[in-house]
Amino acid sequence: MRKLVALGVVAVLAAGGAALLTSRASMAQQPANGTTADSITAPKLTAADSAALKGPRQPIFFRHDIHAGQYKISCQYCHYTVAVSAEPGIPSMQTCMGCHLAIGGTDSTHKAEIKKLRDAWRDKKPVEWIRIHSVAKHAHFPHMRHIKVLGPNACATCHGDVARMPQVFKVNNINNMGFCISCHLERKVNRDCSACHY
Ligand code: HEC
Ligand code: HEC
Ligand code: HEC
Ligand code: HEC
Ligand code: HEC
Repeated sequence: MRKLVALGVVAVLAAGGAALLTSRASMAQQPANGTTADSITAPKLTAADSAALKGPRQPIFFRHDIHAGQYKISCQYCHYTVAVSAEPGIPSMQTCMGCHLAIGGTDSTHKAEIKKLRDAWRDKKPVEWIRIHSVAKHAHFPHMRHIKVLGPNACATCHGDVARMPQVFKVNNINNMGFCISCHLERKVNRDCSACHY
């Protein structure tokens, strides 16, 4: 992992992203958040297998079980605004290329998928990830308030064990108000309508 991060650091520096560097590099060395597992070996799968997996197929078969699971890259290395903003953020291609300028992949499936990323980078065409979790406009969900109280490893409470998912899918129905209210009730948190609806 150290080696990976070092590669990332060099490339990020080259791309001029020095400001974020120290904090993000050190975060990447923490264990993956939101998983109970010490070590995960991601199964061998090809992009064709993704059709049979739960969750929407993404434009690139990006695997959390490889990145956050096997290589233990911290959730916050990529979703780096989760503790400070309502939105966790989906990483830009620059974050990916911090590693993938150098890492081309070991087997043919990995190589083919990483090539899609490199081509998109070369053509300056941001990858259009399909969004999975999204609450209606009339409801507001501030990530930072939750991470502050529930802790940086709380992702799994709502999203399930993402570090074991080859393809992300919805584990909890976040579009059912009861999901929010039951925890707020249990933890004696604000349940005024106007806390979430404004
Ligand atoms: C900290 C380093 C790092 C970052 C950042 C990173 N990757 Fe990776 N990625 C790896 C490593 C290591 C592998 C495994 C390579 C192998 O052994 O084949 C990998 C494998 C892959 C693969 C092939 C396996 C798979 O997941 O299907 C794809 C595609 C990929 N990465 C896409 C991305 C994308 C897209 C991003 C940005 C959202 C990203 N990576 C960010 C390190 C990184
Ligand atoms: C290397 C970068 C990287 C790391 C590390 C990473 N993610 Fe992600 N994450 C992504 C990308 C890219 C997407 C969008 C594509 C997808 O859904 O797979 C995403 C999507 C997601 C989504 C679905 C977003 C939606 O549309 O609803 C969740 C939830 C998520 N990540 C949680 C996590 C958690 C929890 C961890 C740590 C266990 C983690 N991620 C680690 C890059 C990363
Ligand atoms: C208390 C429940 C809860 C926790 C804890 C939580 N999330 Fe979420 N997450 C949600 C909800 C609800 C949404 C949809 C929010 C919306 O539509 O505004 C979401 C959306 C997301 C998305 C998609 C955002 C996008 O722009 O596409 C990502 C990525 C994500 N969460 C990552 C994480 C990570 C990483 C953690 C842990 C550090 C985490 N979440 C912790 C409930 C949670
Ligand atoms: C696993 C428990 C849990 C779940 C599930 C959960 N929350 Fe929370 N929520 C909390 C906690 C704990 C706080 C307290 C934060 C604090 O004290 O600052 C909180 C605070 C909030 C706040 C700030 C309230 C205020 O005081 O103004 C909002 C808004 C909110 N949650 C919305 C939601 C929404 C919307 C959902 C469902 C999509 C949701 N929460 C699901 C635990 C949860
Ligand atoms: C902790 C956050 C939270 C609180 C408090 C809350 N709601 Fe909701 N509410 C939600 C979420 C999340 C949804 C689902 C939004 C979606 O469809 O994505 C929702 C949905 C709704 C809907 C749409 C119908 C439905 O079931 O989808 C209505 C109406 C509603 N809420 C009214 C209220 C009223 C009235 C109160 C106060 C008594 C209240 N809510 C308190 C989070 C909250």
